[in-house]
Amino acid sequence: MSGDSQKTFYLETFGCQMNVHDSEKVVGTLMREGYRQVESVEQADLILYNTCSIRDKAEQKVFHRLADFKKLQAQGKKFGVLGCVAQQEGEKIFERAPHVSLVCGSASYQNLPQMLLKLEGRVTDSRIPQMQRDPSTSLGQAPGHPSVGLGGGYPTSANNPLIRITGLDDRQTDKCFETEYTARTNPHRAYITIIEGCDKFCAYCVVPFTRGKERSRTSASVLAEARQIADLGYSEIQLLGQNVNSYRDPDGKKSFAELLAAVGEVTGIKRVRFTTSHPRDFSRDIVDAIDAVPTLCDHVHLPVQSGSTRVLDAMQRLYTREQYLERMHWMKAAKREISITTDVIVGFPGETEADFAETLNLLDEVGFDGVFSFKYSARPNTPALSLNDAIPEQEKSRRLDVLMTRQKEIQIARYKKYVGTECEVMVEGQNPARGQWIGRTSQNKTLNFTSSAAVDLKPGSYVPVRVTSSFPNSLLGEMVV
Ligand code: 5AD
Ligand code: SF4
Repeated sequence: MSGDSQKTFYLETFGCQMNVHDSEKVVGTLMREGYRQVESVEQADLILYNTCSIRDKAEQKVFHRLADFKKLQAQGKKFGVLGCVAQQEGEKIFERAPHVSLVCGSASYQNLPQMLLKLEGRVTDSRIPQMQRDPSTSLGQAPGHPSVGLGGGYPTSANNPLIRITGLDDRQTDKCFETEYTARTNPHRAYITIIEGCDKFCAYCVVPFTRGKERSRTSASVLAEARQIADLGYSEIQLLGQNVNSYRDPDGKKSFAELLAAVGEVTGIKRVRFTTSHPRDFSRDIVDAIDAVPTLCDHVHLPVQSGSTRVLDAMQRLYTREQYLERMHWMKAAKREISITTDVIVGFPGETEADFAETLNLLDEVGFDGVFSFKYSARPNTPALSLNDAIPEQEKSRRLDVLMTRQKEIQIARYKKYVGTECEVMVEGQNPARGQWIGRTSQNKTLNFTSSAAVDLKPGSYVPVRVTSSFPNSLLGEMVV
């Protein structure tokens, strides 16, 4: 236990920005419940991992961590697994890592305060509201360890090493995890969740199973948070959702594009980003909004996954190569040059050499400013599990290498074009070893820079920079004074 009487926790986050932001809300909630955050496992009474299961490799990380620190259970420390692996593996986690006491998926975070009380042995079950169990989502029970959902009947005790608390049964909820207690960790960029869950069920993806059904926040609540953030001094907002384009205002007041524009018009906000988009739901009015509102960043991340319509069909992506290219044309016709980045999966079951060649050709045709590329990883519950024609691991690796090499060439050429231009950057920090400042452009490019005059730039401030040279993933420049 920690030296002082205050309960302490350590939280490590894996995965996407949604997880990063969920963790900010979890930290806020824990602090509200009287916990203090500490920087190391050794200092903590409660150790939490907010996990990612998008690919197998990501999923394995949490089990490695749990194994590494298992011995600390003897000191009375408690362990909790949150997020996608928690939701996906459920009570099976107690079997694999018996020192874990809490397993909670993201759809159940609003119940964390009650779960914490139970973890500490400060409540009897009768004080915890009975929650609905969805029989279809119940997973196997660890042998010899009766499980407790909230409202279960397991005797609670702070000293009981076998305490089992689960928050797994809320994936059909209509509620988002809204809290005013958000411990924002990025001093410049504030995240705002606008939609949670996903109803798309792409054939390879675990997210609809781990994050539950799609639910949007009201535009009024999003805008209230944006104003509050601006009042706190943030100038950049990133709207988050698994698929922000399928945002539906429960009050019916604003479309996604209208909400985007309204956030961009909040006084004090200089940059608005959004992620992630889905090509099927990405509508032209989003490009119109970027044209109309200068604070909306000229960057769109639009995952394509494959350049072959045949593979897109097998992936159940609900659009064709041509429809994706149509969206590229909308963006290329915008008033400002919009930087476009994407995600690609190589080696999806049945992807032929010809399909893969179509993906390479799409990279040439579009000219992305960044590509996040992944080898297909079979995930539990997903429809793609039943597909034949698995691609051997070695071939997946080969395709990934080919794709990354091609994209590197494209980026070298694209980044070169910025040399000689002037960009406004937001200062993110300093790299003293290189004598450089670190900046980010509206297009989301890293633009590191030097200054001939001695300046003391505050992180979060905006300065003009002339680009002097380029690399495949970043630009270098000189501050304009
Ligand atoms: N295998 C490989 N990559 C995946 N992604 C999602 N699921 C899988 C999977 N099973 C990738 C997609 C998605 C990104 C976040 O992760 O490209 O856009
Ligand atoms: Fe997964 Fe598809 Fe939903 Fe994105 S849109 S989270 S890839 S199911």
